Amino acid sequence: MKQLQVSLGERSYPIFIGRNLLDNPDVDWASYVRGNQACVVSNDRVAPLYMAAAKQALAGKRLSEVVLPDGEAHKSLAVAATVFDRLLEENHNRSTTLVALGGGVVGDMCGFAAACYQRGVAFVQLPTTLLAMVDSSVGGKTGVNHPLGKNMIGAFHQPVCVVADLSLLDSLPEREYAAGVAEIIKYGLICDAPFFAWLEANIAALMARDGEVLAEAVYRSCVNKAKVVAEDEREGGRRAILNLGHTFGHAIETAEGYGNWLHGEAVAAGMSLAMALSVEMGDLSVEVLRRGNQLLQRAGLPVKPPSAMTVEQFLQLMGRDKKVVDGRLRLVLLKGLGQAVVSEAASVEQIAKVLLAAGVKG
Ligand code: NAD
Ligand code: GLY
Repeated sequence: MKQLQVSLGERSYPIFIGRNLLDNPDVDWASYVRGNQACVVSNDRVAPLYMAAAKQALAGKRLSEVVLPDGEAHKSLAVAATVFDRLLEENHNRSTTLVALGGGVVGDMCGFAAACYQRGVAFVQLPTTLLAMVDSSVGGKTGVNHPLGKNMIGAFHQPVCVVADLSLLDSLPEREYAAGVAEIIKYGLICDAPFFAWLEANIAALMARDGEVLAEAVYRSCVNKAKVVAEDEREGGRRAILNLGHTFGHAIETAEGYGNWLHGEAVAAGMSLAMALSVEMGDLSVEVLRRGNQLLQRAGLPVKPPSAMTVEQFLQLMGRDKKVVDGRLRLVLLKGLGQAVVSEAASVEQIAKVLLAAGVKG
């Protein structure tokens, strides 16, 4: 088992990484549930697989469960409110702990419910997708979608611990697994060139789910995420580099309808666009763009946006993203491999040129 710490003063917490951790006495994640009440929040796809094991680890607590409908399309205020209904119906007080058992959708929604319920209660992250293990379960960003934009309603609320039990990934479909690899590649691109080179050498083993390679990839991703979050918990500056490709990606997700393009797929195409824009601006070599695209493709990820989207649609949806400051698009660009910067320098014309070159309609 590997372990690391997210260092945030009194809000610090551990991340445990390994196989068969839900009932591992060395992890004893149930001890992070301080009161005698807990509520496990999952969805109708994950609950039949792992709800019993999660509840077993919490034996002795007064337990509730909420099983949400599966999918990004249900990441809404209305669905999150069903968690509040259950907590109130079953008399959960401020010392209760919510337990997020699922991928990034469940984690974001459960974390949001924990941030709001009685002005904030504790929550544990039990991520069950690769994407959630390497990204969404770490760092305290929680929230839900609005029909007009992704993750537009939310709160910063850190979990009390994260348990990345890699054996839960055995049931994860190939496409979802690849979507998680997109976020792993992201860390190499934005802040860890040696990790990128390691991924180039190990991508075949990672895609084959080799145990040691997978554990190392999750660990190094979490180390990078924890470092960035510790430097800038509430995204005043540096943390924004974690959004490489996300402004383009959110536009794709919104245009295509939540859930049709997976988040990681949209981020992969978005990272390719962000790299191409960096090249267009004279900041990045074509060679890094080539290596980035090649690694994404070797992971089975898209590097082109959906062909039905138009430049105007992209620009409109990107303008609605949270990363807009005083009318200027704030984008994450690369100055080199492992060197992300947040920049408002790209003009609308440069962005349009890169979109057209990627096959987006004029
Ligand atoms: P997801 O939660 O929708 O999970 C993907 C699919 O896999 C779902 O159908 C889910 O039910 C299923 N699944 C989950 N675990 C499984 C398992 N072990 N076996 C079989 N099926 C399983 O999607 P995701 O990719 O995990 O997360 C994407 C979400 O995360 C997006 O909403 C995105 O906005 C959010 N996100 C948040 C952050 C953050 O910092 N909070 C960061 C990145 C992404
Ligand atoms: N996934 C972006 C962040 O956590 O800041």
